[in-house]
This record gives sequence, C-alpha cells and structure tokens, in this order.
Amino acid sequence: MRALVLAVIMLLAALGAPAMAQAAAVASVASPDGRVRIDITIDGEGWAHYAVSRDGKPLIAPSRLGFQFTDQDAIGRNSRFVSSETSSRNTRWEQPWGERRFVTDAHNELLVRLASPGASNALTDNRAERPIAIRFRAFDNGIGFRYEFAARADGKPWRIADELTEFVIAAPGTAWWIQAGDWNRYEYLYHHTAIGEVSAAHTPMTVKLADGTHLAFHEAALVDYSAMWLKRVDGLRFRATLSPSSRGAKVERSGAFTTPWRSIRIADDAAGLYDNDLELNLNDPNVLGEVSWFTPHKYVGVWWEMHLESKSWASGATHGATNANVKRHIDFAAKHGFRGVLVEGWNKGWDGNWFGNGRDFDFAQSYPDFDLPDLAAYARKQGVRLIGHHETGGNIAKYEAGLDAALDLYARHGVDAVKTGYVADAGGIIAPGDAPGEQRMEWHDGQRMAQHHLRVVREAAERRIAVNPHEPIKDTGLRRTYPNWVSREGARGGEYQAWGTPGNGPAHAPTLVFTRMLAGPMDYTPGVLSLKGRGGRDLESTLARELALYVVLYSPIQMVADLPENLEAHPREMDFIRKVPTDWAQTRVLAGAVGELAVLARQDRNGPDWYIGGVTDTQPREVVIDTAFLPAGTRWRAHIWRDGDTADYRTAARHDIVIEQKPVTAGDRMTIRMAAGGGFAVRLEAIE
Ligand code: NOJ
Ligand code: CA
Repeated sequence: MRALVLAVIMLLAALGAPAMAQAAAVASVASPDGRVRIDITIDGEGWAHYAVSRDGKPLIAPSRLGFQFTDQDAIGRNSRFVSSETSSRNTRWEQPWGERRFVTDAHNELLVRLASPGASNALTDNRAERPIAIRFRAFDNGIGFRYEFAARADGKPWRIADELTEFVIAAPGTAWWIQAGDWNRYEYLYHHTAIGEVSAAHTPMTVKLADGTHLAFHEAALVDYSAMWLKRVDGLRFRATLSPSSRGAKVERSGAFTTPWRSIRIADDAAGLYDNDLELNLNDPNVLGEVSWFTPHKYVGVWWEMHLESKSWASGATHGATNANVKRHIDFAAKHGFRGVLVEGWNKGWDGNWFGNGRDFDFAQSYPDFDLPDLAAYARKQGVRLIGHHETGGNIAKYEAGLDAALDLYARHGVDAVKTGYVADAGGIIAPGDAPGEQRMEWHDGQRMAQHHLRVVREAAERRIAVNPHEPIKDTGLRRTYPNWVSREGARGGEYQAWGTPGNGPAHAPTLVFTRMLAGPMDYTPGVLSLKGRGGRDLESTLARELALYVVLYSPIQMVADLPENLEAHPREMDFIRKVPTDWAQTRVLAGAVGELAVLARQDRNGPDWYIGGVTDTQPREVVIDTAFLPAGTRWRAHIWRDGDTADYRTAARHDIVIEQKPVTAGDRMTIRMAAGGGFAVRLEAIE
C-alpha cells in the first residue's frame, strides 16, 4: 500500500513538474524607475499568474488570477493568452483638500487579454469563449491590477461566487491586521503576528518582510462590488474572499464592468508606506467638478457627553440635543473659531435601547426640544454650521426611503455636512429586498452597501453636503472621485477611550497610521483634554499626545471631542487646537515603525507654517527631528507641547505637559522625548 501511495505521489510530481516548467511568460511591465516588475505567466494548466519583484527580488510569488461564478464554470484553469499592450502615464493632479495638494501619478501599464473556454456545465447555455482583460499598473512604490469584464454573450448578468485572485507573499515576515468576517466590523485592536498566523484579514493589511521591505495590501475604487477580504489559504498564500451577499452571488453585475483595483504598496520602511498615493492614483478623477463648497474644518459636538452617559441621545430629563445645550456649543464653537457643531440625538427614534432602533429613526422629525431652523440660523449668524447626524441602526431600507427628505431638510437650513451611522453587528444591515416590504440582511462591506454609500454620497453632493459615515464600508480612495466623501470611521475610534474594554491603548495610534490610515481620512475624534472617559476612567494617553493626534491621524474634519468646560480649562492646549489646520500642502513621515511610533510633519495648505506630531507606544522614546525639510532662508519659532519629565499614560502624571518655544533654522536638529504612551505637538511658525 505504501509503495502504491509513493508511486502515485511520484507520478503526480512527475506530471506537476512539467506543468510548472511549461509556465510560459506572456507579458511583463516595470515601474518608471525600473525597480518594480510585474510578470505574467500562464502555467501548464492554463492558469494565469502574476508575480511582483523589486530589484529582482521576489515580493509576490506567482499568484493565480480568476473567478468562480454561481451559474457557470470558473474563469481560471484553461485560460488562453490572447494579446497584451502597454502604455505609460506621468501626470500631476491637484487635490481639492488632503494630506498634500499635488499628487504625482507616474506608472507603466500593461493590459493583458485572456480568454476562457465557454461554460460547459448544465447551468448555462453560455458556450461562447469568455474574454477577460486584466489591467496592471506598475508604480515606483506599488502595483495595482483590476479585471475588466465584457458583457456576457448570453446577455445574463455576471454572478460572481468569489474571486480566485491570490497574493502569495514571497518571503516570511510579520503582519498587522484585523480579522474580517467577525461581528464588530472594523473595530478591533490590530493583531501583530507572523504572516503565517493571519486567518482572514480586512485590508489594508500591512506586512514587513524579513529584509525590512514593507507591503500594504488593499483595494482602490470599490464601486458596486463586494469588499475584498484576504483569507490565508496555506503558508504565505492569501486569496481574495469577497464579503458575502444575501443573494448567493457575492457580486452581481450586468453588461461590461471593471472590478475594483487590487493594490500593493511597496516601500523600504513604514514611512514609505504612508507617503504613498497608490490608491488615490488608481481612482477616477473628481466627477463633482468645483467642490470649494466643502471647507475642511474642526468641529465640536453634543456627543462626548452621551458617550460619558452624562447626557442621552434619547428624549427626557438628560436629553443632550436641547436648544439650550446646542446653543451653548454653538457659542463655544464661535468663540474658538470652530466651524462645526455636530448634534446627535436630535431626531425621533432614540428612545429605549437605541441599538437596533433602525426602524424607528426618523430623519425629518426633531424631538420637540430641538428647533432645527432656529438653531441652524443661530449658528450661521455666528459663522458656525450645524453638522447633521443620521444614525440608521443599520436599517438602510428605512434610511433610503427617507433619504431625499432628510437631505433636503438639511440643505434648506444650510447644514452642509452629515455624519451617518450604521450601528449593527457585521452582517446585520437591513436592506430593501426585491418585493415590496421584503427585507434582506447584508454585510457592512458587501456589494449592497458599496451601492448604498455611494448613493448617499451622490445625493448629498447634489445638495452640496459632505458625508462622514461611521460603521462605514472601508475607504478605497473614492474621495478623489467624490470629494464630498470627506471622512469616515472604520476602525476603533476615540470613543473606545471612553468605554472600550479594553481602551485603545498606546500602540493603537502608531498602528493606525500604517494600516487604517493608508486607506484615507479617519474621523477619530481626538481632543479629550480632561483625559477622562466614562465614569471618570483615565484615558491611556497624555495631554501632549491628545494634541499630537491632530497631526498624526489625518482628517479634513477634525473633532474637538471633549466637553466645552473641559476644553476651556486648558487654554494653553486649546491654543494649539485652535491653530492646527485640517488641510495640508505637504505631508512627510519623519519617523515611523508600525505599532511603535509615528512622527509626521505637515505644512498648512493656507500658509507657510509647519506642524509636527508624534506618538509612541508604551515605550518612552526620544526622537531627533532633522528640520532639513524646512525651506532654507526662513526663520521659525517652534511652539512645542511635549510630555513633562514625569508624564506617563499609566499615572496621574499623564497630565504633565511642558509648553515651550525655541527658535529654529532649517537643518537644526530638535530632540523631543515622548513619555510612555505619550507624544508631542509642534507648531513651526514662520517668522520672517
Ligand atoms: C457610533 C459612532 O461611532 C458614534 O460616534 C456615534 O455617537 C454613535 N454610533 C451613535 O450614532
Ligand atoms: Ca463606531
């Protein structure tokens, strides 16, 4: 018996070896600097593979390309190479707002056309050969590819059961990742494990190979398609797994269509992963035209007090969204120059346990103690705008039915930004079905939600309203195409500092920078200067670190989250928050190690000043900032907010802060110490 097994194994090996040996190179493309290379091969079984290398060193070993369908044969094995063509692009485009004003898009492109034999099974009469094209782009700092489907020959919709796209990481290393397919959407602390210990991960997933090379796997332009999870199949081999759908097929598309781009950032270090515009470059240009009606800004809100449980979203004696309380916040915002006042709990539906109140939320009916027209007018007179709030409880059937009226109401009163919310466990979105009254359960990141979010963003854009979803679908750079999609949550935000078990902990922010933030802006909600959460619990932070977050975690809308009275008690820290911009001309990572530290410098988009923010994990660290990035010939005054000598996130000394000023000339070195769990913020004021 053993001999027979051995013989069979040897026979299989003998069959397999020539199959691999027969793998034919069919096309390749290199990045503009020639270092990054994508090679396309077709193996002896007809599987198309792509491989990625840099300087000849493999990063992605040959990885399969293909699809499974619910009603016809897969596209994968037995594919035939048809043709390929290449092209190049080198342009610079301007962001209306962002981490940097100008973005360079320099890449070489390879379009590979394949054909797959017609479906042979009994489910379809689609006998025609099926063409499929794959468009690859090689950049100096990453690659992207997407599939381009022609319409089905039989006129039926494509019904994708799953992708067969693989990512075979070519060398061992470690990964920073959050689990996909679990109940709490994207709201987890990041795991840091060997690559071989990842189960299924959301993207971006960040990887550091043994030689120090950093990769980040993600996707761009997630439009009318399900989000990609990365499932580790074996060893270092991952396969795209699409978020589920209630309809069987995870994606259903009629006619010709393109998939989102699968993207891999490639860098020498963590800093290079962040200073990288790969997914923005893979997205389509702005389709909204002139969007100066959106102004990046800071905002306060009737919000933190609900998370502290000193006020309620629900009506009654502790109701937060009362006329008097909102006016108090408007006055506070006006006094400090903050443009926005978010008000949650203003509309009917929050009574009882609001988790699961999706069918009760009414987006056009205020509670009687909240007078929207009066408050909106009161705010505008002081140069302040209310920020709207639509918590859906995940019931998009209800929300979509009332969407027009809800947005019209805000537009009528000059409310030009809305925070949306989808609080429901993952997979618990209630969507309209096909028959009247029918409802279906969907995932937060499935095709139906990709459609929903874009519908809200488009409807809002028509009314010149900006959108900031919480419990969102992940960011894939669509802000380039729809610049009113200004921010989102999509990770553990600052609210976990109030009540999370555990809290976010010091490693979270320096991990976010090189994972979640690669996707795009996050409404983290910093600025809790009291360092106090629910029930008086202490935040795992320091006072200087709360300021650093405004520079470190980018968003064009930044909350100043604490209660007005707590903020007023910190005039010297408020001096930084008042001045720190929310829109930048340039951004640079000065120091970074995933999960350990992040030091970022950004220049104000509307002036010469630079700002620097740094955060560390539980380790105190001294960073030496080389100011050679500053333009020569200007003198600067550095305003520094740093951890005091005794500061420590675990003790009452978390409040210990030193605020000082120093003259700086370009090229000077500034040494700043961060306490355990601490950080620092610097404003470099150009003085002549
Ligand atoms: C979750 C959001 O992240 C939070 O900011 C909001 O206050 C609640 N949902 C209620 O909508
Ligand atoms: Ca949330």
